[in-house]
Amino acid sequence: MNKKSANMNFRGKTVLVTGAAGFIGWKVSQLLLEMNKNVIGVDNMNDYYDPALKKWRLSSLKKFPNFTFHKADIGNYRKLKSVFDGYKIDGIINLAARAGVRASVEDPWVYLDTNTKGTLNLLECCKTHKVKKFVLASTSSLYASLDMPFIETARTDTPLAPYSA
Ligand SMILES: NC(=O)c1ccc[n+]([C@@H]2O[C@H](COP(=O)([O-])OP(=O)(O)OC[C@H]3O[C@@H](n4cnc5c(N)ncnc54)[C@H](O)[C@@H]3O)[C@@H](O)[C@H]2O)c1
Repeated sequence: MNKKSANMNFRGKTVLVTGAAGFIGWKVSQLLLEMNKNVIGVDNMNDYYDPALKKWRLSSLKKFPNFTFHKADIGNYRKLKSVFDGYKIDGIINLAARAGVRASVEDPWVYLDTNTKGTLNLLECCKTHKVKKFVLASTSSLYASLDMPFIETARTDTPLAPYSA
């Protein structure tokens, strides 16, 4: 979608971006803010990599008056619900995740807590708060056991690690 048509679809809307301090979530938030959308950023600021980088990204987003930030873990349903209770949210872009194939083999629990339970919590909040738009970032790791190059319509039920699962 180009910027012009995105502007038409999301004019004056409020988007909750999870993982707003992350590599992709930060840039997505910045683009939405530049299009004058209201952005609610959520991130737990974990130390999977240097949190100083995440703090720097957040400081650049906080310069936009229509950005608000909540330090929250999407695995914590109560906390997440309290964020949803405070706004009229039009759409969710879920970019909060543990992203690492090898690390997911060493500690699958944290991947279940964020990537699986966190996503379920967000979907539940969408249901109770009548949010109809939900975007989730997937991963090409889904296709790791298949012949390359993969195609997006290929089967995705042969993950090799908890991350892709
Ligand atoms: N970067 C890539 O090349 C790439 C490629 C394919 C898919 N993806 C997917 O895109 C998404 C974002 O990836 P990224 O590269 O921006 O990762 P990232 O690690 O830079 O960002 C993720 C952000 O989510 C936050 N987070 C993690 N767990 C959380 C939790 N429980 N509650 C709240 N916040 C939490 C982290 O603190 C971090 O700021 C992931 O789902 C990833 O799998 C990324």
